[in-house]
Amino acid sequence: MKKILCIFIVLIFLLASAGCVGVNGGQNTGTGVDNNTVQSNNDDKHHVLVAVFSATGNTKRIADSAARILNADLYVIVPEVPYNEEDISYSTESRAIREQSDPTVRPAINGSVPNPDKYDTILIGYPIWYGQAPRIICTFLENNDLNGKSLAAFCTSDSSGIEESLEYLHTLVPKNVKWLDSRRFPAEASGDDIRGWLDGMGLTA
Ligand SMILES: Cc1cc2nc3c(=O)[nH]c(=O)nc-3n(C[C@H](O)[C@H](O)[C@H](O)COP(=O)(O)O)c2cc1C
Repeated sequence: MKKILCIFIVLIFLLASAGCVGVNGGQNTGTGVDNNTVQSNNDDKHHVLVAVFSATGNTKRIADSAARILNADLYVIVPEVPYNEEDISYSTESRAIREQSDPTVRPAINGSVPNPDKYDTILIGYPIWYGQAPRIICTFLENNDLNGKSLAAFCTSDSSGIEESLEYLHTLVPKNVKWLDSRRFPAEASGDDIRGWLDGMGLTA
């Protein structure tokens, strides 16, 4: 009986210890980084933010890969009113086509970039919608103070290039923004393609 009681007590102790680890694992560890915060870029030379809007995941995959390669923070641009399937259908009545036909539309973003001042370089990613960046990218560029920062855009598309979208985005940012090499990727771009682009801008050096 004593033996059984001992085993029972040891079991309780082990379960309690396991529970403590679980709780601590979800809290701030004292390093200033909790589980919901993306790890900061550790590079002394570059402080890069990868910001992305992606409706069906293709551009998000490129953003994830770029952020991983650079050990950069990733900020996902979330619309206040999410786009459902109908909103982005090719129907002539869709929300996407309505927004893209009106250059003054600025769909609201849910939330904002934490500590935007800490970044000197922003990589901004989006899908091409009717030749242009989705209007929510204009909201992002206009909502953030980009004075003196370096910027590069990246996009995915079925076939369109990035140039037409870039021409318009250039008009939305302050004159002292330094544009780096912007790039269109196919949805299935490889890690090497993305690394090559980042290398070319000197961000991995
Ligand atoms: C509303 C809408 C408009 C699009 N317009 C174009 C276009 O003009 N040119 C093009 O090559 N692809 C176009 N596409 C295809 C997307 O750019 C492509 O699928 C992209 O990889 C989607 O990225 P995401 O998964 O990050 O949203 C369009 C897609 C949608 C939903």
